Amino acid sequence: MQRHLITSAIPYINGIKHLGNLIGSQLPADLYARFQRARGNEVLFLCATDEHGTPAELAAAKAGKPVAEYCAEMHAVQARIADGFGLSFDHFGRSSSPQNHTLTQHFAGRLADAGLISEVSEKQVYSNADGRYLPDRYIEGTCPNCAYDKARGDQCENCTKQLDPTDLIEPRSAISGSTDLEVRETKHLYLRQSALKDDLDAWIDSKKDWPVLTTSIAKKWLHDGDGLQDRGITRDLDWGIPVRRGDADWPGMEGKVFYVWFDAPIEYIACAGEWADAQDGANWERWWRTDKGADDVRYTQFMGKDNVPFHTLSFPATILGSGEPWKMVDHLKSFNYLNYDGGQFSTSQGRGIFMDQALELLPADYWRWWLLSNCPETSDSEFTWELFQQGVNKDLADVLGNFVSRVTKFCRSKFGEAVPSGGSYGPREDALIADLDARVARYMAMMEAMEVRKSAQELRAIWAAGNEYLQAAAPWSTIKEDTDTAAMQIRLGLNLIGLYAVLSSPFIPGASKQMADALGMADIPWPSDIRIAVEAIDAGHEFSVPENLFAKISDEDRAGWEARFAGIRS
Ligand code: MF3
Ligand code: ZN
Repeated sequence: MQRHLITSAIPYINGIKHLGNLIGSQLPADLYARFQRARGNEVLFLCATDEHGTPAELAAAKAGKPVAEYCAEMHAVQARIADGFGLSFDHFGRSSSPQNHTLTQHFAGRLADAGLISEVSEKQVYSNADGRYLPDRYIEGTCPNCAYDKARGDQCENCTKQLDPTDLIEPRSAISGSTDLEVRETKHLYLRQSALKDDLDAWIDSKKDWPVLTTSIAKKWLHDGDGLQDRGITRDLDWGIPVRRGDADWPGMEGKVFYVWFDAPIEYIACAGEWADAQDGANWERWWRTDKGADDVRYTQFMGKDNVPFHTLSFPATILGSGEPWKMVDHLKSFNYLNYDGGQFSTSQGRGIFMDQALELLPADYWRWWLLSNCPETSDSEFTWELFQQGVNKDLADVLGNFVSRVTKFCRSKFGEAVPSGGSYGPREDALIADLDARVARYMAMMEAMEVRKSAQELRAIWAAGNEYLQAAAPWSTIKEDTDTAAMQIRLGLNLIGLYAVLSSPFIPGASKQMADALGMADIPWPSDIRIAVEAIDAGHEFSVPENLFAKISDEDRAGWEARFAGIRS
C-alpha cells in the first residue's frame, strides 16, 4: 500500500471562489485523492483557507465585521461549498489556526538560528489618502519586466515575475487609486533565499519527472536577471501571525506580522496537525517528518501556474533553511487558466460563475466532469455555455446515462429486477473485455500520471465501448429468437454498470454512488482484472432502475444561463 500526501493550493478567504479557481487546484487534487483511495492506498488530502494579508482585512472591513469573525464565517461558507462539490479533504483547515501560529513562529526561529534571516530597514509605501501602509498587492502599476499595466506589487499576473512594489512603474493605491503615496522607513525581516540558491537548484534538478511548466518557471526565477532575491517575510499589518522567534519575543518586531505568503504554505503542515487534533490525536508527523515515518510518503501538490514560484522556491527555501527533516514535495502539478466566455474569470470584477451559483444550477457531477475533461493542462482553456452544454449532453447524458438507463430498463421489462441467468460470454464479449482491459490499463496509467484530460478521454471511451457493444449485440432483437443469449448480454451490461461505477468515481462521485446503489453494491473494489470484474455480479442479484443519471441541458436553459451570467456579480 502506498501513502499519498496530497495538498491543493489553499484558497484565499475573501469570497467564494469561481470555477477557474476550482479547476486550477482543488478539483484535480480531489480527482487524484479519490483515485488513490479507490485503489486502496492510504491518503491524507489537505486543504485550508488562506486567511491573512490585506485582502482579508479589506473584505472584512467591507462586510463591516471584525476580521476574525469574517474569516470564521467565510471558512464555514467555503467548507460547505467544497462539500457540495464533493471535495474529499481529510481536513479543511485555516491558516489562522493556533497550530499554524506555532509552526510559523517555529520556522522563523529556526531560520534565524541558521543565520538565514536579516533585519532590513525598508522603505515602505504609505498612502496618505488611505492613512495606512500599503502592502505589496495593494499597489498597482506597470510591470518592469513585461509592461503589463495592472501588475501588483507582489507579482505580475501576466509574466509571473515576483516583484517588489518599488519595482513598479507609475505606482498607485489599489484601494483608492490615489497616487499620493510616500515612502517611509520601517524595519522588516528578510529571508536570505539567495544563500539557498545552490541547494534549491540541486533540489529542482533532482526532480526529473516534473512537468516542464513547473521546472521552467522555477529555473527562470533562479537564474534569469538578478536570480533569486531575498524576500521580506514581515508586514506592518494588524491581522496575521505575530512576529516571534520560536516562542520568544523578537525585539524591534513588535506589532508586526508575518507576510501571508510566508505562513500560508506552512499551513500545509499545520493543517495535518489540525487534522490530527480533530481526530483525537492521530499521528500527523508520520506524514510530514522523514525522521518519523514520512520517508515512504509520496507528496503531491496541485496549484495554478501563478503559484509555482512560491512552491518551488520560497516554501522549499523555508523548509531547507530550517535544517529539519520535513517532507518536501515529490510531484508538483500546475495548471494554466480557465477563461470565461472570451475573457477571464475574475473575483474582483465578479466575472464568470462562482461555486455557489454553479451548484444552484446543476449537481456537482455535471461541473466536475466538464471542468476536468476540459482542464487547462497544456494550455489555457475556455468555458463557454455552448461547450458546457455539448460536453454534458454528449458524454454524460448520451453516453453514460443512456447506457445505464437502456440496460436497467430493458432488463426490468423483460426479465425483472434481478440479474438474469442463461448463456455465457462468447467472442463478441471476449473482444469487448480485451478492449476494456487495454483501455482501463491506459486510464490507470493516465490517472497515475495526473494527465487529467487524457484520463477523462479514456474514461469516456470506456463508457462508449459499452454503448457500442449494446448497439451491436442488440439484446432487444436477440430476445426474439434466443432468450438465453439476450440474458447473457444484459448480464454483461449490468456488470459494466458496476465497473463504470467504480472507474468513474474519482470524476463523478455522485453518479457513481447512484449506479452502485442501483446495483445494491456498497463497496465495489477497484478492478484488477476486467474479466473477473464483469463476472462479479451473478444471476439472481437484485437491482433497481436508477433515476435518470443525467438530464440534458436544453437550448433554452443554456440561453437563459448565458444571459444571466453575462454580466458581473454584484
Ligand atoms: N491563496 C493562494 C492563491 O489562491 C494560494 C496559497 S497556496 C500556499 O493563489 F502555498 F500558500 F498555501
Ligand atoms: Zn510582467
